[in-house]
Amino acid sequence: MKKRLLAIAVIAGLGIMADASAADDLQQKAAAMFSAIPQYPPVIDGNEMTDAKIELGKMLFFEPRLSASHLISCNTCHNVGMGGHDYLPVSIGHGWQKGPRNSPTVFNAVFNAAQFWDGRAVDLAEQAKGPVQAGVEMNSTPERVEDTLNSMPDYVERFRQAFPGQGSPVSFDNMATAIEAFEATLITPDSNFDKYLRGNTDALNAEEQEGLALFMNKGCVACHAGTNLGGQDYYPFGLVTRPGDDILPPGDKGRFAVTATATDEYVFRAAPLRNIELTAPYFHSGAVWSLEEAVAVMGTAQLGSKLEESDVASITTFLKTLTGNIPVVQYPELPPSTDSTPRPQD
Ligand code: HEM
Ligand code: HEM
Repeated sequence: MKKRLLAIAVIAGLGIMADASAADDLQQKAAAMFSAIPQYPPVIDGNEMTDAKIELGKMLFFEPRLSASHLISCNTCHNVGMGGHDYLPVSIGHGWQKGPRNSPTVFNAVFNAAQFWDGRAVDLAEQAKGPVQAGVEMNSTPERVEDTLNSMPDYVERFRQAFPGQGSPVSFDNMATAIEAFEATLITPDSNFDKYLRGNTDALNAEEQEGLALFMNKGCVACHAGTNLGGQDYYPFGLVTRPGDDILPPGDKGRFAVTATATDEYVFRAAPLRNIELTAPYFHSGAVWSLEEAVAVMGTAQLGSKLEESDVASITTFLKTLTGNIPVVQYPELPPSTDSTPRPQD
């Protein structure tokens, strides 16, 4: 009897050891594929992060007078109190116009290799100049922005402090540079997945670990890896099976518009998946509201296999561990308009 009990204890012990070593194995594999979000904003080449610049960038991010209507700021479509986006299928901009694409979150955007669904902007500073001028977004011009900022003495002083030593610091380019510095602070460290990557194997429960294992073994990781689990490279959406026209509208050919290369038709940047539970609806079309459905679509479109319902559920459970600490952003006080501030336009 004693022997049997001993044998059971040994087998049970081996089982626990096997489980423990499988768990360690999974953690090590994950740590080789993904990186934790750092605790502090990254260094950006050519854009020294000073308090003055970050604060100015924050004001500009919330500044609706950068838009022709004086109604729309970056925060309208990238609401930092709402996951860094707008919860709309496609954004609504100047004159209530609908844009062609879903607004991605600005959280952790600094870790993406390039910006936009098609990667057409190399960095956040280049990116920031786009929406201000886009007719369907803020509908302004660099000259109007410079006139607006020059009309408010508080901004002129803040540009001087943020860009010391420059002859005319109030410029459209410096606006973009300051916004980039602020956006680099919008990072979301310390998700349970980050804790797991740093070695705390208890940070993910059994189902979350199963979802992580499926995410890696089924092949999602081929396109969604690194710090942001995506945002690094481009792939055809519908690599194996083309999704329906509602999810992949035929009029938006993705990266083809950037490179004019036939093989780039319907190619998009693999979407970054950090905080994905906060950023519905999904895909560049914003056509899918449920994360489970988005995962299932990826199974058929990108992997060519219909995922079991239970696998979809596990992967989705894992994806929810990617939600980190949301940055606390205090709403800035913006200077009053003056007699020389350009007036709002329809
Ligand atoms: C894309 C920032 C204004 C809607 C982006 C991205 C960033 C960003 C960083 C790329 C994120 C990524 O690729 O993962 C800003 C800043 C703004 C601003 C700094 C103010 C200067 C707006 C406004 C709207 C808007 C006002 C809505 C009217 C969008 C949309 C995209 C986008 C739809 C995706 C466009 C595409 O991929 O073609 N924005 N944004 N943004 N933003 Fe904004
Ligand atoms: C988008 C998850 C496999 C490339 C997405 C989105 C999710 C997701 C949730 C939507 C993100 C958003 O709208 O913000 C997954 C999962 C996968 C998987 C769970 C495995 C089952 C893959 C593979 C590739 C890939 C293997 C590359 C061959 C893309 C691309 C997009 C995307 C290009 C953007 C699609 C668009 O333009 O809207 N993925 N993915 N994914 N994924 Fe995956």
